Amino acid sequence: MTGISKTYGGTLACDDVDLTVRAGEVHALLGENGAGKSTLMRVLSGDVTDHHGTVAIEGRPTRFGSPHDAQRAGIAMIPQELDLVPGLSIAANIFLGRELRTRAGIIDVRRMNRETGDLLARTGITLDPKRHVGELRTGEQQLVAIAKALALDAKVLIMDEPTSALSPAEVTRMFAVITELRAAGAGIVYISHRMEEISRIADRATVLRNGRVAAAFATADLTVAQVTEALVGRPVQALFRTEHGSTGRELLRLTDFALRPRRTRPGRREPDGVSLSVRAGEIVGLGGLLGSGRTELLETLFGAGTPGRRHGELRVRDRVVRPRRPRQAMRLGMALVPEDRRISGLALSHSIRANTVLSIVDRIAVGGYVPRKRETGAVRRVVDELKIKIGGLGDAANTLSGGNQQKIVLGRALLTEPSLLLLDEPTRGVDVGAKAEIYQLLREAAGRGIGILLASSEPAELVGLCDRVVVLHDGRSVRELDTRDAGEAELLAAAMGEGRTAAAVGGES
Ligand SMILES: Nc1ncnc2c1ncn2[C@@H]1O[C@H](COP(=O)(O)OP(=O)(O)OP(=O)(O)O)[C@@H](O)[C@H]1O
Ligand SMILES: [Mg+2]
Repeated sequence: MTGISKTYGGTLACDDVDLTVRAGEVHALLGENGAGKSTLMRVLSGDVTDHHGTVAIEGRPTRFGSPHDAQRAGIAMIPQELDLVPGLSIAANIFLGRELRTRAGIIDVRRMNRETGDLLARTGITLDPKRHVGELRTGEQQLVAIAKALALDAKVLIMDEPTSALSPAEVTRMFAVITELRAAGAGIVYISHRMEEISRIADRATVLRNGRVAAAFATADLTVAQVTEALVGRPVQALFRTEHGSTGRELLRLTDFALRPRRTRPGRREPDGVSLSVRAGEIVGLGGLLGSGRTELLETLFGAGTPGRRHGELRVRDRVVRPRRPRQAMRLGMALVPEDRRISGLALSHSIRANTVLSIVDRIAVGGYVPRKRETGAVRRVVDELKIKIGGLGDAANTLSGGNQQKIVLGRALLTEPSLLLLDEPTRGVDVGAKAEIYQLLREAAGRGIGILLASSEPAELVGLCDRVVVLHDGRSVRELDTRDAGEAELLAAAMGEGRTAAAVGGES
């Protein structure tokens, strides 16, 4: 790619960028939220066509008119915001637009299902190819998107934050696939805000800053700290605090809490024996593998899960409660930041202003009206505190980069000043610098007496930020770790199921 520039309205998203990707390398594309990484890759994958500069494939200049053109030239992309069709099966998604047919020209569903099963197996996941994509968790959807890209057998594979919802075990499996592809001569562009992934998998890296190339280097032998420094452009202090805060009264207590759904929904791991507590001023982590039931637990607590009978006990501030709707949970002082910001977090076509004030209208209204000045003040506070990179408050949320959308969702939840904050992968897709700011904000919120229950697939985040971590396995709390004396290794071991009875472990394999 030579001299690539692309503007959106007044924003120069890419500014005269050069990038070379070689056969048999993993090329990391780094940069803060809004730096222009996704835009550059959307040019390469034929999704953005009104750009300046040229793209040459194997030395031949080309001009892509559509993603289809790019695919024919051997380029496949796993986009940051997945473009799977929720109402279609996994197999139908994977073969969308290139359905397999029998010799008689009839769509060969059986063969598509079989090949889908093989592709999924390569990514290390067992899912029924006939299941609808809309039923899958974000992490599972990411694996389906990876399988879909593998099906294209591309020369150049672009992965835009493929692991932002994956746990270490799934990431390791995916890296094995990447290593295979690299050995077979593919060129891979890898975008991620998880620095340890970059030093593990990348051969070279290019850093974008404000749409321009700020640095390019070989990553072999670089430590995580060195990669981080190259990205941020200055030495970074530790991401995490070391001291634990003081705690107040108990806000939440679950005792052998379980949900027996009225109708089981495929692929969901409902709470099945969870015991934990969260005190005011405390950050409690939820760890576990993909599918261990973290999301389902948070949703159930917030009254947004599968309808059904609850067993065991759920206490909020010492009162037994059974929230069945988010409204009831909100009245109890809870707020939830969901895992998938596009489904339940953001109204993408609405303005940043509307998305931010949405949840606090009641609180800032005066006699039924929200004075414009108050509204602007509240929205400005979120944007400034979280350093969200935006054009104007009136711009639609979908003009923001992925990480900046995440910051809006989180900032909005903080604005509601809940007493109990439920967070599902709160820093998904957020750059390292902004992560440090978010951790700081969460610490401050806890300092004001808010209790936080936080699900994360990043062990470093759980161990570094939380006071305690409760590990889920198959919907059950299997261990609780005090992060003052337990590290990532213990956390991983507990997530893999160590510590349960031998029979239970054996019964699964
Ligand atoms: N469809 C769009 N309309 C208007 N502006 C856009 C659009 N897409 C991206 N931008 C802007 O272009 C700039 C670069 O965004 P881009 O999505 O490429 O960033 P990124 O490096 O991928 O960030 P992140 O790490 O958060 O995903 C940002 O300022 C963003 O707001
Ligand atoms: Mg992006």
